[in-house]
Amino acid sequence: MNRYAHVTGWGMAVPDRVLTNQELSRLVDTNDDWIVSRTGIRERRIAQKGESTATLAARAALRALARTDLRPTDIQMIIVATASPEHIFPATACIVQDTLGATNAAAFDLSAACTGFIYGLSLASHSIRAGAIENAIVIGAETLSRLINWEDRSTCILFGDGAGAFVLQASHDPGGFLASVLHADGSGSNLLTIPAGGSRMPASLETVHKNLHTIQMNGREIFRFATRVMASSTREVLTRSGIELDDVELVIPHQANRRIIEAAARSLRLPMERFMVNIERYGNTSSASIPIAACEAIEQGRIRPGDHVVLVAFGAGLTYGALVLEWVSTERPIPPARRGIQRLFTFMGRVRSLLRRFWRHIEGLIWGTKSHKKR
Ligand code: UT7
Repeated sequence: MNRYAHVTGWGMAVPDRVLTNQELSRLVDTNDDWIVSRTGIRERRIAQKGESTATLAARAALRALARTDLRPTDIQMIIVATASPEHIFPATACIVQDTLGATNAAAFDLSAACTGFIYGLSLASHSIRAGAIENAIVIGAETLSRLINWEDRSTCILFGDGAGAFVLQASHDPGGFLASVLHADGSGSNLLTIPAGGSRMPASLETVHKNLHTIQMNGREIFRFATRVMASSTREVLTRSGIELDDVELVIPHQANRRIIEAAARSLRLPMERFMVNIERYGNTSSASIPIAACEAIEQGRIRPGDHVVLVAFGAGLTYGALVLEWVSTERPIPPARRGIQRLFTFMGRVRSLLRRFWRHIEGLIWGTKSHKKR
């Protein structure tokens, strides 16, 4: 019997703090007209104290989970696609796993920049279709505002913070994930990068002084690359899935620049109405931009059961790719008791986490944590 991977839950989380173009024009030499005409962005969200990639990711995931009848313990894989992880290690996904109480899940981060959500969705869907797992959560989450040079007008106007999540479940009913194409071209790895803070160039006073721990981008080169691969990846994934362009109800592109989306639409000869665009309110949220746009498209009734939806992205790496979904999900009313059970499981997961930390502390006191150094 064939297995399929269906999207059964979706959720997004963005910080409350809105940063407008007018406010930015007081920080750097820019103005609202330039930003809107060159990018389509009017405002973006910025994480505040206490918010981070993991907290946004967990909020989005909990909202996605609340749309399903799953318990956190039913999740077997958590992928956090991010270019702004909580730490180099541990993985942000492990912190999310702990917050959700998803104690049976493998958890790891996926580094494919703005294409990360498509890479993650593809990986989780193939794992479900192969029979390796039943349920997964794929999250795109970013706090790029923490990695921006706020004096660099060519980058600080672009990026914003947020997270979006999909729950995937195995099913024998056809539909859901149909096909994906994933690509990389490392020869362009220097075009969009955070040079310092990794093993190649460890953080030092000098790297901080030179702002090498912030985003460095060759905007024009990325723009050229993006306009080329958005259309080609869309065509390629449609060929692979056997779906005609005319049968695609909605394209959800990575929200990097409205002009890039318009160029892709021209190249594909599709009207802009067939593209989901919300960049004006969130800016470029990297790996989170597609799931956030998807959540808003669903909310606006732009995706209906039976629709074919193409997700397409490009990003640092360089990475690029596209994915086709046949939307099968209809909102199923979840009984309040079910929701209560979900919350209880998340609560119990947190209690378990605290108990384990406490027990480790006690063990440390009993056995000593520095004994090997004394020897
Ligand atoms: O997720 C992937 C992430 N990255 C991207 O998607 C970036 C793709 N690239 C882009 O979106 C565009 O290249 C940008 C929006 C970054 C820049 O737009 P552009 O039309 O390519 O502008 P440009 O870099 O060619 O610069 C044109 C002019 C320059 O001045 P001169 O040299 O012509 O005098 C820039 O210095 O605009 C100037 N400029 C600005 N002016 C006002 C650059 N940034 C700004 C600014 N405000 N914020």
